[in-house]
Amino acid sequence: MKIGVPKETVAGERRVAMVPDAVPALVKMKLDVLVESGAGAAAYFANADYEKAGAKIVPDAFAAADIVVKLHKPTAAEVDRLREGAVLISFLQAATNPELVQRLATRKVTALSMDAVPRISRAQSMDALSSQANVAGYKAVLIAAELLPKFLPMMTTAAGTIRPAKVLVLGAGVAGLQAIATARRLGAVVWAYDVRAAVKEQIESLGAKFLELDIGTKDAESAGGYAKELSAEDKRRQQEQLAAKTKEFDVVITTAAIPGKPAPKLITQNTVAGMRPGSVIVDLAAETGGNCEATKPGEVITINGVTIVGTLNLPATLPVHASQLYARNVTELLKLIVTKDGQLKLDFSDEIIRSACVTPVVSATPTVA
Ligand code: NAI
Repeated sequence: MKIGVPKETVAGERRVAMVPDAVPALVKMKLDVLVESGAGAAAYFANADYEKAGAKIVPDAFAAADIVVKLHKPTAAEVDRLREGAVLISFLQAATNPELVQRLATRKVTALSMDAVPRISRAQSMDALSSQANVAGYKAVLIAAELLPKFLPMMTTAAGTIRPAKVLVLGAGVAGLQAIATARRLGAVVWAYDVRAAVKEQIESLGAKFLELDIGTKDAESAGGYAKELSAEDKRRQQEQLAAKTKEFDVVITTAAIPGKPAPKLITQNTVAGMRPGSVIVDLAAETGGNCEATKPGEVITINGVTIVGTLNLPATLPVHASQLYARNVTELLKLIVTKDGQLKLDFSDEIIRSACVTPVVSATPTVA
């Protein structure tokens, strides 16, 4: 069976879905690995590295592949290049891309979406949302440190003592917790806030302080472990109280998200106006509209001396490790759908495969030669 690894075509993307180090595991699974020429170049993985690891370099990784592994959802033209009946593994955000899912189903492609892999213990090694959010959380702090006109750590020097910068992290999921850990490593004093009560302990275990807000909802965790949307009144109270608190901080990193919904607005224009000039906001939710009203997705702007970073796709800025982690996630998923003798076996009674598959199972019976 053949696995295709195409070059990503989204502007600015430097990651690749499979790295040379991960190829031997696929070869051991009796898979032929076909890598599009130059697919790893932007992440410093040369064609020769893939070849050394046992892959074959090809001009087109779609046409002959039984399974195509990608990062970004395919374009319509890429769907048409998939072999009928092939399997596709990539981020697909099916809920917001119904036309793409329809197109894949029409082409009889079995589409496994990395963002639909359930967040259960057995699937942790396949959790690409987490592996990439972790990269984004780390990079957000480095960006803030670079833009802040101050040190992050306390410094005791002959010329005087510098007080540590204060960092506030809003939303303490995977990205937020990594941002906390990274800011702590750089010596900042870190506070964090989340609507899910369970994260207080996690925040404190990383050496940060939990910011208590007095809003009506005491715990907004849903059955699936994600946050629920707050009522209009609680949103208003949250915004108001954050406006008062953020004044004290040099850096605010926002990561709040609710699956399938636009990012909750936590920082209003007024809040930004109240912050000290020189402060920095890094809005990791820019992708879904931003947690800050002033954020311009894809841009870095300054309002009254406050820098607001809406840079998109931060994982692409650390392509080596982001690709390495994603490749591991994909490899673990492949192990679930490939038998010992290298044949495809989609067991839809397995919760992971059933949840990850976003095309109708009936029309997607794979026809692997
Ligand atoms: P996410 O990206 O959906 O959201 C980020 C954070 O924003 C969450 O912590 C959420 O509670 C918070 N948030 C939402 N609305 C907010 C608001 N109005 N104000 C402040 N914060 C707000 O979350 P992520 O990182 O994908 O993690 C979601 C959940 O999945 C967490 O419970 C996490 O522990 C869990 N998880 C479980 C895994 C497993 O067991 N395999 C693996 C990874 C995550």
